Amino acid sequence: MKSRKFARVEGKLPGPKASLVVKNTAKFVSPSISRFYPLVVESAHGSLVKDVDGNQFIDFAAGIAVLSTGSTHPEVVQAIKDQAEKFIHFSYTDFYYDNLVELSEKLLPLIPGDGRKMVYYGNSGAEAIEAAMKLTRNATRRPLFLAHSGAFHGRTMGALSLTASKPTQRKGSLPLIPDVVHFPFPYCYRCPWKQSFPECDYYCVDYFKEQYLEKFVNVDEVAAYFFESIQGEGGYVPAPPDYFKKMEFLRKEGVLFVSDEIQTGVGRTGKFLGIEHYGIIPDVVTIAKGIASGLPLSATIASADVMETWKPGQHASTFGANPVAVQAALATLDVIKSEKLMENAKYVGGRAKRRLLEMKEKYEIMGDVRGMGLFLGVEIVKDKKSKARGETEVSRIVDYCFQRGVLVITAGRNTLRLIPPLNIAEDVMDEGLDILEEAIATVNSAAAKA
Ligand SMILES: Cc1ncc(COP(=O)(O)O)c(C=O)c1O
Repeated sequence: MKSRKFARVEGKLPGPKASLVVKNTAKFVSPSISRFYPLVVESAHGSLVKDVDGNQFIDFAAGIAVLSTGSTHPEVVQAIKDQAEKFIHFSYTDFYYDNLVELSEKLLPLIPGDGRKMVYYGNSGAEAIEAAMKLTRNATRRPLFLAHSGAFHGRTMGALSLTASKPTQRKGSLPLIPDVVHFPFPYCYRCPWKQSFPECDYYCVDYFKEQYLEKFVNVDEVAAYFFESIQGEGGYVPAPPDYFKKMEFLRKEGVLFVSDEIQTGVGRTGKFLGIEHYGIIPDVVTIAKGIASGLPLSATIASADVMETWKPGQHASTFGANPVAVQAALATLDVIKSEKLMENAKYVGGRAKRRLLEMKEKYEIMGDVRGMGLFLGVEIVKDKKSKARGETEVSRIVDYCFQRGVLVITAGRNTLRLIPPLNIAEDVMDEGLDILEEAIATVNSAAAKA
């Protein structure tokens, strides 16, 4: 095996200590959690992770797009320690503390749009979505929601009603909120209408008008349209450039646009929000994952006139805006600015994407390379012509990478996603990509022989 600077794995994984933890976890922890491989973390710093058997990995998963400033960034750790020594919890549902004002003052100007904005804080992505659902219904006094097939907005009952990326997420949970209308996402590599972009001239938008608005959706009953500018769990699928602008006609009909930035937000795509690449200003934005570098915190941000339709008692959560998480978020935003992490995401992500596009020319199983900044997807197929989904191939690649010290995971059925910390260094990224290329080359030649 090649000697590497960062990725170091001895023998076959899982090692003895990891195997024991995996076995014991299965005894006690709900089997509803599905994992890609048996990584048992011992410690993690920056973009490197050690397991309990002493192996070292390059982190291309960042705790599923959460570790924006990397693991244990010193400023984040210090902020957490300082706050923990002052007070750990007091519940913003009933009391006040001032770092919440400070965070709001820093966060709100990062959200596009001129008017005054306000924020509701929760703990998780799903909670941010639940809040957005309740808020938009309350503000519009309308019942319906629009969402896309392929969408992922969370797993609690309300959020799950919008989610439509894998049948298993809903299995056994029905009935959900009934008033959600799903319509196809413009997934250009697998266009649902078998068209090609840009010759299609956004037929997807015409289809939505003809088949939905003209057939059964009363637009004056729609509270909100929920979307991810780049679908995450659905397979790392960016909408084509003018899609959301073309959908903006809905806003004239009073439909609120909710941009779910839980995975794409906090600088991951090279801009603070994914939707900033699309030239529209949403009415509501949901943020979670990377905002506090790993502590649980989420934000539902809306214009003040929308947020102020809520009256005291209509929504709250005991643990929302936990002061330690808030302090971690303040440090995260400072580090993103002072260390120019959005610029790094753009630069390192841009280099990585160019390399992946070059690789795509060499390997038959690389169907599509897409994404922005450090939010990159590689769709693996059986062959370029048939585009048959390479589900077995993608899991072989993921396993190969794990066995050689790179943590990479998938999205959708057959897409690799590369979402390292926003401050990943070029040499670490390059070594991770070397191993990924080795994995793809190996699986590609095995597929060619089969
Ligand atoms: C776009 C999007 N929305 C919502 C969620 C739900 O977030 P959480 O798992 O924190 O509830 C996720 C999680 O992956 C997500 O990617």
